[in-house]
Amino acid sequence: NWSQYEMGPPDPIVGLNESFALDDNPNKVNVGVGAYRSDDGLPYVLPCVREAEKINMSKDTLNHEYLGIAGDPNFVKLALEFAYGEDSGVLKEGRVAGVQTLSGTGGLRVMGELLKKGGHKEIYVPNPTWGNHIPIMKNAGLEVKKYRYYNAENSDLEFDNMVQDLKNIPEKTVVLLHACAHNPTGMDPTAEQWQEISKVMKDGNLIPFFDCAYQGFASGNAPKDAFAIRMFVEDGHNLATVQSFSKNFGLYGQRVGALSIITNDESEAKKVLSQMKMTIRPMYSNPPKHGAQLVSTILGDKQLTTDFIDQCADMASRINDMRIQLRTALEEGGDRNWEHITKQIGMFAYSGLSSEEVVKLRENHSIYCTLDGRISMAGVTTKNVNYISDAIKEVTK
Ligand code: LMR
Repeated sequence: NWSQYEMGPPDPIVGLNESFALDDNPNKVNVGVGAYRSDDGLPYVLPCVREAEKINMSKDTLNHEYLGIAGDPNFVKLALEFAYGEDSGVLKEGRVAGVQTLSGTGGLRVMGELLKKGGHKEIYVPNPTWGNHIPIMKNAGLEVKKYRYYNAENSDLEFDNMVQDLKNIPEKTVVLLHACAHNPTGMDPTAEQWQEISKVMKDGNLIPFFDCAYQGFASGNAPKDAFAIRMFVEDGHNLATVQSFSKNFGLYGQRVGALSIITNDESEAKKVLSQMKMTIRPMYSNPPKHGAQLVSTILGDKQLTTDFIDQCADMASRINDMRIQLRTALEEGGDRNWEHITKQIGMFAYSGLSSEEVVKLRENHSIYCTLDGRISMAGVTTKNVNYISDAIKEVTK
């Protein structure tokens, strides 16, 4: 008997794909889930990934054996160097416990479980944050609290309020920060603001936990986008980082990610790693191989790494062109200010559209974005930008 189950709501982000698929309007536009599209509106495989696929397929050592619980050690090493830097002191000192994860979501869940096991009762996230952060951490048994981050009134960071909130968080609490290209707002702290955040968190003895899902989409230079993480490490934080390789490498369906925690010394790192493995084994045993091997083939090769950085920058640059075109089209003949669209970075435009306007966009124009007004700029193209701007003007007039 399964009658005790109520009908659940569709997922606020991924659920949009289902409604989109059922829509028979030939002009329909999917700007919901953050997934990069070419200017023809098609999924895009990076040429360096194609190249790595060829290389890996030609190896007769390729097999389908299990990976270890912590994943592919070569991938983990390269992934951590990608975040912390090849010359990172904490990596050289063996102070970092790291595992391969099922992309960002999987790494976040492992972290949530680990925190709970370690006696943590709560975690702080920015307001707003990626919708899935909240159920991931709640399902791991943590209470999710928010610090102020973004002021919807002026479409800007509310930095002073953020700092004030951080100062009031009890010591030893874990605070989630978006390493770059904040999702959903597209607004990051400046370098000086990051410095201040680092200092406030150090003074307050807080534990920074970086979610790094868009490395390459902020400055257009993937290694450089890790600058906040690296600055915090320099400042002596024993922080944690979860990385997703879905967006920057375009490996969405391969579920490639890493979770790492900086500890005091090598022996502590080994203990933390053992607990990570004990968390993972009963959850999903060990991670999949294919995508992680593509990433390590690329990051293990100088030329392919250079190609990757260029190709990721090209994606970021197409998105920026679309920001300019969308803003220009929206401002033509209108009096609403759309400046924030070009001020924001990363994959999303946090448009400021109300949920009523979003519903009208969906119902009257078959344009699918999330209810908070977040538009995935990665789905905007030269072919649909005018259709989108005309529709937005229509629902906001
Ligand atoms: C998004 O925010 O659209 C992406 O991170 C995809 C997802 O899983 O929600």
